[in-house]
Amino acid sequence: MRIGIPRESRAGETLVAATAKTASQLKDLGYDVVVEKGAGAKADQPDSAFAAAGIEIGTKAKVWASDVIIKVNAPSEAEIKRLKPTATIISMMAPMRSPELIAHLQTQGVTALAMDAVPRISRAQAMDVLSSMANVAGYRAVVEAAWEFGRQFTGQVTAAGKVPPAKVFVVGAGVAGLAAIGAAGAMGAVVRAFDVRPEVAEQVESMGASFVKVDMESEVSSDGYAKEMTAEQEAATAAMYDEEARNADIVITTALIPGRPAPKLISAESVAGMANGSVIVDMAAANGGNCELTKTDQKVVTDNLVTVLGYTDLAGRLAAQTSQLYGTNIVNLLKLMTPEKDGALTLDLEDVIVRGITVTKGGESMWPPPPVQVSAAPVQASAAPITPAAPKPPPDPRKKLFAAGLGAALFALLAAYSPPEFLGHFTVFMLAVFVGYYVISNVSHALHTPLMSETNAVSGIILVGAILQVGNANPLIVGLSLVAILVASINIFGGFLVTLRMLKMFQKG
Ligand SMILES: NC(=O)c1ccc[n+]([C@@H]2O[C@H](COP(=O)([O-])OP(=O)(O)OC[C@H]3O[C@@H](n4cnc5c(N)ncnc54)[C@H](O)[C@@H]3O)[C@@H](O)[C@H]2O)c1
Repeated sequence: MRIGIPRESRAGETLVAATAKTASQLKDLGYDVVVEKGAGAKADQPDSAFAAAGIEIGTKAKVWASDVIIKVNAPSEAEIKRLKPTATIISMMAPMRSPELIAHLQTQGVTALAMDAVPRISRAQAMDVLSSMANVAGYRAVVEAAWEFGRQFTGQVTAAGKVPPAKVFVVGAGVAGLAAIGAAGAMGAVVRAFDVRPEVAEQVESMGASFVKVDMESEVSSDGYAKEMTAEQEAATAAMYDEEARNADIVITTALIPGRPAPKLISAESVAGMANGSVIVDMAAANGGNCELTKTDQKVVTDNLVTVLGYTDLAGRLAAQTSQLYGTNIVNLLKLMTPEKDGALTLDLEDVIVRGITVTKGGESMWPPPPVQVSAAPVQASAAPITPAAPKPPPDPRKKLFAAGLGAALFALLAAYSPPEFLGHFTVFMLAVFVGYYVISNVSHALHTPLMSETNAVSGIILVGAILQVGNANPLIVGLSLVAILVASINIFGGFLVTLRMLKMFQKG
């Protein structure tokens, strides 16, 4: 089969669906690959780079006559008409919001796979173009903000005075938000972040930012995406957004619920309350924006000199890297769909990833796919009733009585023939056994490692005591001391060995 990589037709697009490197990886899967002349020029992938990798450079007509077309943006109506009926087209398509596109694909009778519909499951991460793009875009959002801010992000104490660190507030801690938190933190800013999904608080804090807490009911996401806020949640968060925006130098908003317009979270009044020179980067601009003042693809400067950026091409502003990541996501998908590496695309609809991205198959609409339970989902409690285990028969009371009687007789015999101080020592010993048993059996598993250190310390005391008794004239005491030295040593050195093994588990390589 031949794969065609066309030049993107969308105005201003810098990305290309394959680099010289990923195009040769597609060739290694057994495909013939043809790239349209000049397709990668804006992503530092000139025709010469493709040619050097042994990839054919072709005309638009030849590329669009291929069996499989891979591109970045959804095909236009004119482009769909160029496809041959048996063709498969792979690109981002936003199928949830594109009923017209699906209708055109059906009319042409083609198979269409949407790269932006890859389900958020662990196995699909290597094909998740939205994550690749959002990751780059989150980083670039911070770079754009830093440029507009015109001041350093990092705080400094210099001979000429103190420079406070920039305060960055990130809304939405998905892929883009976390990338922005990482980039802003690395540049020295003090970062705060909020997300409606409570489970991301830990991730935010692990990146060195503070998670803003709001007193409201929120539930753990079942599919890695947030649900729309209830009226109570909106009321509870509105004051927080206002306060955080007014206190921040930079606000980066990424809040999005798939298939919905972006929620309006930063009001015009909040922007009016921000300091002169502050910057808002609204990453949700393509879906209407999280800020009331955002204009798609524009830079707006308010009366109080707050800059609001609504750029939707942030990932495209780092075109070489984004194209490389996008191309690699495509290669990973085609590896899955070309199991024999024979250049023949197989559409295995039993595979949840393939089914999840299939929008049309030979002109038949396959959208929407059945829902997928994703890795972020909490494990459902089993609905099946648990069969109670058969009750254990009660222990025979006569056995207990016999054991107690035997113990008492042995103890009386021992007390009769032992030195007078024995009884005192024995009482202490028995109390220690009881206390030790109840303390240790009630210690939680998480504390077993510190508990081990504790028993090592006790063994150290035993060892010292036993060594002191080795010179005793009584051979029984010497024998017992030797046993104590042996057992305590096993505990101490065994403890060191276990600790060493555990440390090795955390060493790289
Ligand atoms: N501007 C660009 O060039 C560019 C590039 C890539 C991605 N994006 C956009 O960036 C945004 C984030 O992308 P992503 O991949 O990180 O998505 P994502 O789904 O991983 O993250 C969105 C986050 O927003 C959170 N959220 C939803 N509603 C919220 C609310 N009311 N308050 C706080 N948090 C809320 C969600 O819980 C989620 O964590 C999207 O809008 C995406 O389209 C923009």
